[in-house]
Amino acid sequence: MSTGIVIAIVVIAAIVFGLIVVLTTSRTTEVRGAGALSRETRSRDSKTNISDTAPSGREVEAAVRSTSVVKAAPVELAPWVAPDEEALGVSRRMFFNRATVTLFTVSLGAFGASVVGFLWKGAEGGFGSKINAGKIDDVIQLIRQNKGFLYLSEARAWVTEYPKDALGKGQAVYSGQAPVFTGMQAGIVALYQKCPHLGCRVPECKSSQWFECPCHGSQYNRVGEKKGGPAPRGMDRFGVAITNGVLTIDTGAVFAGPSIGINTTGQEAEGPHCVGGGH
Ligand code: FES
Repeated sequence: MSTGIVIAIVVIAAIVFGLIVVLTTSRTTEVRGAGALSRETRSRDSKTNISDTAPSGREVEAAVRSTSVVKAAPVELAPWVAPDEEALGVSRRMFFNRATVTLFTVSLGAFGASVVGFLWKGAEGGFGSKINAGKIDDVIQLIRQNKGFLYLSEARAWVTEYPKDALGKGQAVYSGQAPVFTGMQAGIVALYQKCPHLGCRVPECKSSQWFECPCHGSQYNRVGEKKGGPAPRGMDRFGVAITNGVLTIDTGAVFAGPSIGINTTGQEAEGPHCVGGGH
């Protein structure tokens, strides 16, 4: 099902739930508390003719004052009758039913809105969606111009070259991650910038030609395979597709980095390290 159809379904569902909320609350307003007049009473009042000859308020007040006060005869108090449990139960049940429906509707509405927001973001592009990185030949050219590393901020990814002569070893490790291996066959890997240790952004180190994390010193070779530090694995990577020579990075498809000890390219540090010092 396409993203557009899913969005349409969610929007329709949100509208339906919104209508349910409106209907529920409007029904509630008809059942008011003590002191409110029903619709029939208000209509009867408006039809009643008030005679012009009726005494004014002041006249009524004067008449009351001039009347001698007569002690009222004692009234026999009616015995207290407990409210009907069944009637009370019904109104309580109605209250809980309506509260449940309203809460359920509001929750579903909020969930629908967040799904729409998420899908909207995915449909519009940005992290989490498929990002067009341009022609694969141009990407490789840019990597070389940038001394081995190309950073794509929209994808939060580092793109580096994967050496063709390492494909044999690479296939044994990465063939289970087909969209990753597709990129390797085309000569690139797209690495997630987030360190698999505790999530810092991992920068490149141009002198060693590795990635070196400033937070706790994890190191990875140029294709994101772990070389040192506390990280539990190599850098995670994105699936890619190459269509008509154009590279698309699917930032919604993150694949776990290779296990510790995997070193398909055999690349050693090519100069001083940026983190931890020394060679
Ligand atoms: S977050 Fe990178 S080494 Fe700890």
